[in-house]
Formats: sequence, C-alpha cells, structure tokens
Amino acid sequence: MKNAPLFPHLIHGGDYNPDQWIDTPEIWDEDVRLMKLAHINSATVGIFAWSLLEPEEGRYDFDWLETVLDKLHANGVSAVLATPSGARPPWLAQKYPEVLRVEESGIRNEYGVRHNHCLTSPVYREKVRQINRALAERFKDHPALALWHISNEYSGACHCDLCQQAFRDWLRKRYHNDIDELNHYWWNGFWSHRFTDFSQISSPKGRGENHVPALTLDWNRFVTAQHVSFLENEIVPLRELTPDVPVTTNMMCLYPGIDYQEMAKHVDVISWDSYPQWEHGRNEQEALTHAFSHDLFRSMKQGQPFLMMESTPANVNWRDVNKLPLPGRQAQASLLAVALGADSVQYFQWRKSRGGHEKFHGAVVDHAGHENTRVFRQVAALGEQLEQLDEAVGRRCESRVAVVYDWENRWATDRYCGYNNVRRDYAGECIKWYAPFLRRGIAVDVISETDDFTRYDLVIAPYLYLLKEGVKERIAAYVQNGGHFVTTYLCGVVDPHDLCYLGGLPAGELKDVFGVWAEETDALLENAPGRASYGGRTYSVDHVCDILHADGAEILGTYESDFYAGSPAVTKNSYGKGTAYYCAFRSDGDFADDFCEDLIAACGVAPDTAIQIPKSMFLRKRGDLIFLFNFTDVPRTAELDRPYLDVLNGAAVEGALTLPVCGYAVLKSSD
Ligand code: GAL
Repeated sequence: MKNAPLFPHLIHGGDYNPDQWIDTPEIWDEDVRLMKLAHINSATVGIFAWSLLEPEEGRYDFDWLETVLDKLHANGVSAVLATPSGARPPWLAQKYPEVLRVEESGIRNEYGVRHNHCLTSPVYREKVRQINRALAERFKDHPALALWHISNEYSGACHCDLCQQAFRDWLRKRYHNDIDELNHYWWNGFWSHRFTDFSQISSPKGRGENHVPALTLDWNRFVTAQHVSFLENEIVPLRELTPDVPVTTNMMCLYPGIDYQEMAKHVDVISWDSYPQWEHGRNEQEALTHAFSHDLFRSMKQGQPFLMMESTPANVNWRDVNKLPLPGRQAQASLLAVALGADSVQYFQWRKSRGGHEKFHGAVVDHAGHENTRVFRQVAALGEQLEQLDEAVGRRCESRVAVVYDWENRWATDRYCGYNNVRRDYAGECIKWYAPFLRRGIAVDVISETDDFTRYDLVIAPYLYLLKEGVKERIAAYVQNGGHFVTTYLCGVVDPHDLCYLGGLPAGELKDVFGVWAEETDALLENAPGRASYGGRTYSVDHVCDILHADGAEILGTYESDFYAGSPAVTKNSYGKGTAYYCAFRSDGDFADDFCEDLIAACGVAPDTAIQIPKSMFLRKRGDLIFLFNFTDVPRTAELDRPYLDVLNGAAVEGALTLPVCGYAVLKSSD
C-alpha cells in the first residue's frame, strides 16, 4: 500500500541556516550550486531565524527569506519551512519577561540559549501565532513550500505561576473539580497529604513534593498536554491559510519528557532526529536502538512513512568525545531509516556555522566551503543512491508482530520505589524483545498500550507495569479471539493512577489469561544473578523476577536458584482461541532471543524473505525492496535464496552475499 508521497523522491536535505550568512548572500548562490552537486532536493529553513524575521516587535522582514525560497525553488529544492518559536529574539524576552521559562527551582531563567520558553504564557503564544500567521500569509503560494516544521524539538517544562495555575485547572478537570477524588487517586492519606483545595497543589520539585508518584505521573501528562496545546496554537494559522501543506514537528528518539504517542495525533507527518553514537564500541546496539526508534515513529501513524528530519553527515559536537563515524556509516544508517519506513534522509546541518555553539558540528559543507571533502562526496554519493529508490517513496510497512513501548509505562517504571531501584531500563528491555525480529527479517511495529492489538498475530509487551484504562480487557479479548500475547515480569501492577491492583497479580482477569498468579517479586544483586532453565538451557536471572504459581498454565521453564528453585519461570496458557505467555524474569543473556525463536515457530510468523542471514545482520523488506545491513565490526554473509538485482549498482547477485563493515545492500527479486 502506498501513501500519497510528500515528494516524488526520497527527501534528501536538512537544516539550512542562510540567516547566519545574511551579510554574504553570495554564499546563498554557492549553497544552491553545492546542493545540486550533493543531490539535495529539500532544505529546512527558518528554524532559528526569528530575530531576523521580526527584528522589532510587529515589523516583519521576510524579503530575505523569499529570496532564499526563490533560489531554492529555481534549483529544484523544496522548502520545509519552520516556525521560529524554538528560540526567540532578545527584544521579546526583554519586553515580556513572562515568556521565559521558570525552572523547578522556582527561579526564572534569564534570556539565553533556546527552548527556554514558558508553555502557558498567553503573550508568548500570541507572539508565536502572529509570526506564524505572517509567515503563512507571505508564503502560502510560494511554490517551494512543501511542509511546515513546527518549532524545534519541543522539550522541558516550565514551573512559573501561569503553569502552576494551568496545572491546577487541568487537575480540576481531570478530577471533576472534586479534591477528594484527587486525594483518593493520589493516595493522599499517606504521609498526611490530603489536600483541601486545588490551590494547595504545585508541580513536583526536588525541594517540594517528589514522593507522590501519581502527582508526577499527572504532571508528565499535563506537560504533554501543554506541549500539544502549544503546538495546536502554532498550527491554527497554518491550517487556515495553507490547508494543503502538511505539518510536522521534530521529535527526539525516546525522550521521556513528552508522550510522543499522544503528540503524534496532532501532526500530519511524523519526524524525528536520529543521532546514534557510532564507533564507541557498541555499534550493533546503537543500530538496534535507532532501528527500534524508527519502527516506533513509523508505528505512530499505523505504518505511514515518517521523516528522519535530522542526522549528522559526520560527527556531532555535544558528546564528551565526538568521534568521526567510519566512512560509509552515515550512508548505512540513512538506508536503515529508509528500510524501516523513512521517506527522507535529512541532516543537521547543511553548512557549518562560522561561530556559535555548533561551529564544530558536522555539516555537509565544512568551513573549507567547497565540495572537495570526504563528507561532501559521501553525502553526494548517498544522494545518488537515494534517487535509485523512488519505489520506496510513500511505501507503508505492514507488520504482523508488535512490541509495546508506552510513554506512560516508561514514566511509571522509571519512578516507582521498590524491588530493584538501580536499573529499570524499560526501553532497554523493550529493545531486547524487539531485536530478535529485526535479526530474523521479520517486520515489527512498536506500539502503545492503547493501539489496536488485533492488527497483529503476535504482541509482546515487556515490563507492562502500568495498565491504562481498558488495557487488561483488551489483552483478554485479543487472546480470547486467537492472538498470541507475551508479557514479562511485573505485569499489570498498577492502574493509570499508579494505584496497585488488589487481588493478586497480574491484575484482574489477566490472571486467567496467563493462567498464573505472581505472588512475590525478588530483586537480584548486580553480581549475583539467579538462574532459570528453559528449553534445556540455563539463563541468568537479572534485576528482578516474579515468583509464580501456575494456575492452569503450562510450565515451560523453571527457576534453578534461590528458595524458589523449581517454581515456574516461563509459562504458556491457552485462553479462548489464543495463547498467553508469561516470562517471569529479566535476563541479560540470550533468553529473549531463544524464546522468540520458538515463539516465531509457534505463532507461524514467517520472515519476509527466504534469504538466510546470520543473527548479526538486519534484514527488512519495504515493498519489493529488501534491505540488508551489517552493523558488526567484521564482514558478514547472507545466503540468497534466488537471483536478485542489487538496486544500488544494477548488478545481478546470487548465492553468498558478503557485506563489509558498514555494509548495506538493497535487493530486488530479478524473477
Ligand atoms: C538537534 C537540534 C539541532 C542541532 C542538533 C545538533 O537536537 O534540533 O538544532 O542542535 O541537535 O546535533
């Protein structure tokens, strides 16, 4: 199935800051010359240009931007036009200090950096809406305009009085203006915390309330809601004046501060910024984490292609050590994004800043200023390759398997006090259960608890600690109707308010679905793992494990250590027409991989191709294109099941296909 594509080709472009070169406009001409050479077809402009776009209040100067857009258009480059709210001009903060953010300390920040604004301030919202309207009015008919880029990497929170008030109003609404309802859900009988009025509540803080998990959970939800309403406020004039131009906002990997699965509902196209840490001795793990994120962002709109809005063409400047990626790495990582559903490869940044904080951040055009650099040649070569992949454009990815990763569950698992407080790593656990599928060429979605399970043959929900409204009923119905559902330790412990379920775990009917009762949970010391056996092999038991009673479930694995040796560690239960598995322990070893091997056979989930790959390679099919990757540090070989065309070089390939370090291939059946 294809989506109406944003562009007829894969987008190849990135953040372009001509505003930094306003005094040397000849550079702009050089830019478009170089863009042609680099096979660039898109430029993201205006992200941090507010002080030039509105040099003084109410006086807009868009002429320079129009000149830039004209030049881009004349050279076949589309514009992703940004709204500038991510960084504001000094005059604005000077005149309206309320627009600046108040940190948790209660102290208002001074003017500086970026992403330093209040999310509630009516003045700031108004100023943003005004400039967005002016931009839309001016450029609505500009032929270069292809997409709106709203702000930049929304993040953080503000604790000012306006935000406190907004938080209280939000709570009033959530708890039906009934403070006792709030007291009940927050369990405020504990430590004498019963409020008598909403005005007594404020945001969680280190020097204030930070031991009421339900308060913090609600604060996270509120911060998400404030970001969403800020985003909506930005979008209003754009929708009105440019109804046909889609909007996006760039998200940041697994950033915990905003529930992206919620925010995703408010944009037309998902985009995110991908910065793996290459060449630090863990390339495969980095690739897995980023693949997981690609699949997560793609799944936010049920398989609709997303954009990789930023990535670096070379190194970054903000890590402790900013190692250069190996030649070929950037192309490999870019193709991984495309394989997993991206319709773009975009960079931060086109041209390196001459001064400022990011002057040493990788860019397509270095300070040398010409095309005769390794990085430029690499980008241009990738641009040519992307032009061979038109048939990927708009191509949705369909998966029969889903792994659940849910922001609210992340918040809750990050924060409870109990069991093992050292290493929660919810994301790491989800990635562990995701990897076996990528390594076997089986497409996999990464969905939230509230997404539709019935689209999948197999759903794996690791560490499903917090159950949102209706989730246990939906799991039960899914399995009843023939689904395969896997969960792990600490499943169904708390409800959406972070109140523990009573009556034994996992919550409610899940005990019947899984056929188990988890009576206790043990925590393991870092250097003293336990042991469990499954399928004739022994695995380490790390971090935490549930001690189970099998109440109807078949026992597939047992503990081999501690006072609960011999009790069930892995179970399988038939429930209705389906099957539910409970893997009661975390293992840092190969357990998840081995278990998934059996699961794949049991659920009849077949790889998307008959190509044989070692587990160290990744394979993904998008439409008829088959993408293969080697992210390990040695060459790896796949066994092709039939003759293929190597799409990127036009060669016929069959038999053994060896990919070097940083290697990738895009194949198509030549039958
Ligand atoms: C991103 C940000 C860009 C740039 C980049 C550097 O997070 O959106 O503006 O700062 O990081 O890696």
